[in-house]
Amino acid sequence: VTPDEVRAAYPVLDRHAYLNAGSVGPLSRRSHQATVEWAERGLREGRGSRRFFEAATELRASLRAAIARLVGVPTDRVLLTTSTTDGCNLVVTGLRLGPEDEVVITDGEHPAIEEPVAASGARVRVARVLGRPRDEVLHAVLGEVTPRTRLIALSHVLWYNGQVMPVAEIRRAAGVPVLVDGAQSAGAIPVDAGAVDFYALPGQKWLCGPELTGALVVADGASLDPPVAGYGRRMGEGVERLAVSYPPAPSLAGLIAALEERPPWAFERAAEMARRCREALLDAGLDVCTPAGEATLVAFTVPGDPAETVSRCLERDVVIRSLPNGWLRASCGWWTSDGDVDRLVGALREA
Ligand SMILES: Cc1ncc(COP(=O)(O)O)c(C=O)c1O
Repeated sequence: VTPDEVRAAYPVLDRHAYLNAGSVGPLSRRSHQATVEWAERGLREGRGSRRFFEAATELRASLRAAIARLVGVPTDRVLLTTSTTDGCNLVVTGLRLGPEDEVVITDGEHPAIEEPVAASGARVRVARVLGRPRDEVLHAVLGEVTPRTRLIALSHVLWYNGQVMPVAEIRRAAGVPVLVDGAQSAGAIPVDAGAVDFYALPGQKWLCGPELTGALVVADGASLDPPVAGYGRRMGEGVERLAVSYPPAPSLAGLIAALEERPPWAFERAAEMARRCREALLDAGLDVCTPAGEATLVAFTVPGDPAETVSRCLERDVVIRSLPNGWLRASCGWWTSDGDVDRLVGALREA
């Protein structure tokens, strides 16, 4: 398939320059169809029939294997979750941290890391990494590590501006457990989840699956003892013992379909489109907050109220978002075209 052919699979692209996979990815017709077929099946066969249960169990196994392949780990390390946040909470609570413990995070984290860590009662140390060059980032994180550090929790890709954190180097150099929030990396850039201890990822963003899907990759399930438990604790094996919530069969089927559809050139194309988008915004004279050569999020500022700019863009069917610090953000995927980028620049000019 070519990039143009791929675009036809996502109905939202017929009309919109859809540049917000960082919040929720575009849905393909095929993924939607798989979800609907499974919902229909439940409607007709009964969601509690033995046949339905067995088929759903097979879906779980296929999805775990597909995610494992994507992030380069054995299948038995993958726990299906309902979100990135869900996975982060399992890890942070599962380490049973207390006031004597320290957790290192960065100043570019999403509430998915910030809030579980704040709720843990541990002392939080914040490394200043946002906007800093890559070689300084490693030092900044290591500089916050002390003998009391029980966990380093950080995003692989910062949600503010797409900066890529050197998570494998941090793990190697720090020698303490590392939890990675993979919300803006999984499906957007190549990921080696085996390089860290815990890797939480969503299904609904760059993997273009249904909402309330995701996974947590755990190197050693025995290292976690979360204070929440359920069916998995009694019946599951390995990491599945941590399972508390179970994404429903239609959602699993939708995510499997979305993964099967990913073109082999997805990463290269997404990186190329993010590069073109960044350059187009610079050429238009905007202040761009994303350094060259990062991931697939491009952040920038424009004069005036950011929320207003988002609305003005939406009036022109251009979908971007604003961030808590006032920046605007465009997400570029393998489905993004030069036309989408031109429409973004045009909408910003008019806004
Ligand atoms: C870095 C980061 N982490 C976590 C999330 C939340 O993901 P989820 O809804 O899968 O918990 C987001 C975006 O919503 C994000 O940008």
